[in-house]
Amino acid sequence: MSHKEYINLAKGESAPLSAAVALVTGGSRGIGRAIALRLAQLGASVAICGRDALALAASEATLRQTGSRVFSHVSDVSQSAEVSSLVSKTDAALGPISILVNNAGIGLFGPAHEKSESDWDRVLNTNLKSVFLLSRAVAPAMIRSGAGDIINISSLAGRNAFAGGGIYCASKWGLQGLSACMAEDLREHGIRVSTICPGSVATGFSGRGAKDPSKSLSPEDVAHAVAMIVTQSSTSFVSEIQLRPVRKP
Ligand SMILES: NC(=O)c1ccc[n+]([C@@H]2O[C@H](COP(=O)([O-])OP(=O)(O)OC[C@H]3O[C@@H](n4cnc5c(N)ncnc54)[C@H](OP(=O)(O)O)[C@@H]3O)[C@@H](O)[C@H]2O)c1
Repeated sequence: MSHKEYINLAKGESAPLSAAVALVTGGSRGIGRAIALRLAQLGASVAICGRDALALAASEATLRQTGSRVFSHVSDVSQSAEVSSLVSKTDAALGPISILVNNAGIGLFGPAHEKSESDWDRVLNTNLKSVFLLSRAVAPAMIRSGAGDIINISSLAGRNAFAGGGIYCASKWGLQGLSACMAEDLREHGIRVSTICPGSVATGFSGRGAKDPSKSLSPEDVAHAVAMIVTQSSTSFVSEIQLRPVRKP
């Protein structure tokens, strides 16, 4: 389904998230863009970030067609100072963040023993450290308001081992641990920290096209899982969604 059809389909829907402010990292393409669009269609004000300014501007233009308030900011989520600036600028533009989707991520595949220290740092800093930095930056405002969702886009690679997955799996297994512990820290404050673990999704993820796009999940499938999490009742806590394509790719 094209983004345009998706927007048209959403016209006339109620806006259950009209009071929400969502920040979706890596909202310039792929899964993050679909999540940002879905949240905007549900009425949320939406902020997105990424490193490529042109791709970010194109995604922002698509999001604006929903009529929701949109803010975009070029930032590298692996950099502490850029994360602080992203969160404070989003707060100034849209208000305190009530939904954080930690989606930005990169893949790197091949035997870990053949990889460099900088490969390790790049993947771990992007996929795991960023989640620590962003969650730490938004938690105080969520605690003050007594509610919030932090949704971490993990992977079935955060649950399963496979040859050539060493560094990527380490980042996603680490993300599973961080998420589960933060969930315990924050649930008493009314904040849900959850993970979505998709299998193969048809995006241009790190230059690795899906093996068979017709048997892969779509970015909109992941966005649907996010929508389910943020529209559940305030007493319910879906803490993890494992999402598989129906047919094995
Ligand atoms: N595709 C799959 O099969 C699949 C399966 C399971 C889980 N996932 C997870 O889903 C998430 C999204 O993947 P995708 O398939 O949508 O990938 P994608 O199409 O490559 O998009 C990745 C997004 O993250 C952004 N990004 C990457 N590094 C960043 C950084 N340092 N700072 C800020 N933004 C950054 C990219 O923008 P810039 O490059 O412009 O910064 C882009 O917007 C990732 O966490 C991935 O691990 C993907």
